[in-house]
Amino acid sequence: MAQEGEILNVETIRALLQTNLFGREPESILEVWDTIDSTNKHALQLAKDGAAQGTCILSREQTAGRGRLGRSWVSPPDSGIYMSIVLRPTLAMEDMPLITLATGVACAKAIEKCCGFAIGLKWVNDLILGRKKLGGILVEMQKPAVVVGIGINIQHDEATVPEDLKEKMTWLRRDSDTKFSTNALATEILLQLENYYQMLLDGRKSDILNDWRKLSVNIGKEVSCQSGNQQIVGEVIDISEQGALLLRTVDGVQTIYAGEVSIRNLDGSYT
Ligand code: BTN
Repeated sequence: MAQEGEILNVETIRALLQTNLFGREPESILEVWDTIDSTNKHALQLAKDGAAQGTCILSREQTAGRGRLGRSWVSPPDSGIYMSIVLRPTLAMEDMPLITLATGVACAKAIEKCCGFAIGLKWVNDLILGRKKLGGILVEMQKPAVVVGIGINIQHDEATVPEDLKEKMTWLRRDSDTKFSTNALATEILLQLENYYQMLLDGRKSDILNDWRKLSVNIGKEVSCQSGNQQIVGEVIDISEQGALLLRTVDGVQTIYAGEVSIRNLDGSYT
């Protein structure tokens, strides 16, 4: 399905990589697998074994890709970028959620630069293209390390997309005119992520939050938010300094720290 030059491979990534730390051997290892159960699972194990900050694991396929909220992440061969990065953040606990937001901004910027698409961010961190989900981020902890997992849909065969995702998901090469190198996109994501992560460590939180706000598809919208077993409906007014969602509801402004947001459509339904 994928052209040869579009297949993730370690030599091309090494040749294109412009980071200072991420994926730079011998300190931070860079692995590109043909197939793996989950890059996050593997990176968490490496982190437990002491892997350095900036260790990057990519795979052409995942057989047990993990999504948020216990879901799976559809990861057929050469259909997406599946990657995980080990971080060892020196941040206050309450600032940890900002890693997810910074990753979303980094991915959006990289896709815009390499593919020319304007990407939106749906809280907490879905990458949105044309109102559909293009990618997602799963941050998992292996204290004191953190693993940032990124999944971006590159190309899928419409016929094999699971029925329940058909209306919801999209991919970058949906239109055959879209030309870019998958390896270049993966390396640009690493570069942008390294930059945004450094901004976070340097205390430039408001720069990251402002970039996130500009890309947000939620702010100013009516949403329904499933948070634990609570369903809260309201208008998104902003995100807090720690990246929580601020919702104006009939009971006043509520701060949502975790959950899943659906945006209200004109017909009153939510997507
Ligand atoms: C989401 O549900 O939106 C988050 C999806 C995250 C998927 C990525 S793919 C690479 C990494 N490894 C995994 O098992 N999951 C993440």
